[in-house]
Formats: sequence, structure tokens, C-alpha cells
Amino acid sequence: MNPSRTSLPRSLPEDEVVDVWILDLTAPWCDALADRNITSGADRARADRMATDTLRRRLLVRRSAMRCVLAHYLGRGAEAVEIVTAPGGKPVLVPVDGATFPFSVGHSGDLYGVAVGTSKSIGFDIERRRRVPRAEGIASRWFDAAEGRALDGLEGEDLEREFMRIWTAKEALAKRHGAGLRLMMRGDTEVLDTEAAASGGRLRWLSPRDEYHVAVASTDPIRTVRLVIPETDEWTR
Ligand SMILES: CC(C)(COP(=O)(O)OP(=O)(O)OC[C@H]1O[C@@H](n2cnc3c(N)ncnc32)[C@H](O)[C@@H]1OP(=O)(O)O)[C@@H](O)C(=O)NCCC(=O)NCCS
Repeated sequence: MNPSRTSLPRSLPEDEVVDVWILDLTAPWCDALADRNITSGADRARADRMATDTLRRRLLVRRSAMRCVLAHYLGRGAEAVEIVTAPGGKPVLVPVDGATFPFSVGHSGDLYGVAVGTSKSIGFDIERRRRVPRAEGIASRWFDAAEGRALDGLEGEDLEREFMRIWTAKEALAKRHGAGLRLMMRGDTEVLDTEAAASGGRLRWLSPRDEYHVAVASTDPIRTVRLVIPETDEWTR
């Protein structure tokens, strides 16, 4: 899918439209979000448990960026955005004046993404392409028959690329549901069925950068994905 790249959205997406924000965590303006003190006490406590300064800072950048994106739609300061973590781990926006909207986040390599929609639930995943030496073994254990067939006859990089494409989609579906990859352990093939979700228009792939796979899932069909790639921090103020 080639999503339309849009300038900063002025309002929440319409029905069947999902906004996907992609931020480069290594961009100096993005890294500097960690110093803006817009995260919650819970975020900072989580950051303090990280093993290295780099991981600690990256977490603060991600959580700050997530708040800035949500604040952009809410028209309020990022520090005033309230987020709770649902039992499975999914971050959820606390309603403001009774209104809320679904979102989902993910990161891989240098990139961080936030998907925002208006359906019941959204799931987002991003994965930087990497070597997957045991792709066939993992697929035979966790992919369903149709997904396994998609790998038939593929080798080397082609196999790894297709494996990553399906894996990213499964993570997006797992995040849409909210239970995460535990669904795989539970054998919940229905929620994680990428073919069914894609053929119903509830799952889309995009590639904001060559070496990355991105998947976005929604409980409603997705007609349009608006790709938002900010290049400064102007929108965060
Ligand atoms: C969340 C999960 C689906 C993907 O994680 P990942 O690919 O390692 O990392 P990503 O950056 O793509 O996603 C993590 C983000 O998703 C969000 N998230 C975490 N759990 C989530 C869930 N159950 N549903 C939706 N979103 C979730 C978090 O906000 C997190 O971002 P943060 O660290 O900046 O706060 C996966 O780690 C998971 O299912 N964890 C639950 C524990 C589990 O089942 N473990 C067994 C693994 S086989």
C-alpha cells in the first residue's frame, strides 16, 4: 500500500482513516523530547529500571513522543495527557471531557510509530528487517496454514522478508486486541489471522523506509492511511 503522506493533521481522522506518525528517534529534535519533562512519574520510574542510559533515554523519548502526538489531537499540553496501561500492556488514553480515541505504538531500530484512529481499537507494529535464521521453524510453529503457504518456495532474503511482513502484521493484530503475543501461546488463531484481516480491509502494510515493515490493524476497514513524518518539533509546542 502507498499511503498518502500528509502534512500535520488538523483533526482526528475520519471513519476508516488511520493516521500513522513515524518519528526518527535519532533526529536531534526528537531525542531532545526526553529533556522536556512531559512524561509521567510511572514513565520515569520505568525508565529508571532500564539497564543503560541509552535505553533509559530512548524510553523517555518514546513516551514523550507518544504524548505529543496525542496532545496534538486533543489541543492540550503533552504533560496534561493521561494514559493508563490496560492489563495486557496496551496504553489507553484516559477520556478528556468524555471523549477518547484509540491509538497504538511500536518501535524498531531508529523508528517509532504511533497510529491513531477512530474505530473501536487500533494496532500498530514496525520491524526493521533483520536476519531470521530460523524463519521456517518459527513459522511452522506459529503461522497458520495460509500464512505458511505464503512462504512456500521462498529462500534467503525473500523468505525472511515475507516472514517479517507476516510477523509484523501478527503483532499489529495482537496489539489491536490488547493481549499482545500471549494470544499466540493461547493458540488464538482467529484474532491473529492476517489473511482474514487483510481481505476484510482491517489490516494494511506500508513501508515508510526501505528496510522497515509496518502494519496497522483496525476493528473497522481501513480505507486510507495518512502517513505523518514530522521533521521538526514545532508541532509539539
Ligand atoms: C507488545 C508486543 C506485542 C510487541 O512488543 P515489541 O515488538 O517487543 O515492541 P514494540 O515497540 O513493537 O511494542 C511495544 C509497545 O507496545 C505497547 N504495548 C505493550 N503491550 C501491549 C499490548 N498488549 N497491546 C498493545 N500495545 C502494547 C507499549 O506501549 C510498548 O511501547 P513502550 O515500550 O514505548 O511503552 C509484545 O512484546 C507482547 O506481546 N508482550 C506481552 C508479553 C508476552 O506476551 N510475552 C511473550 C512474548 S512471545
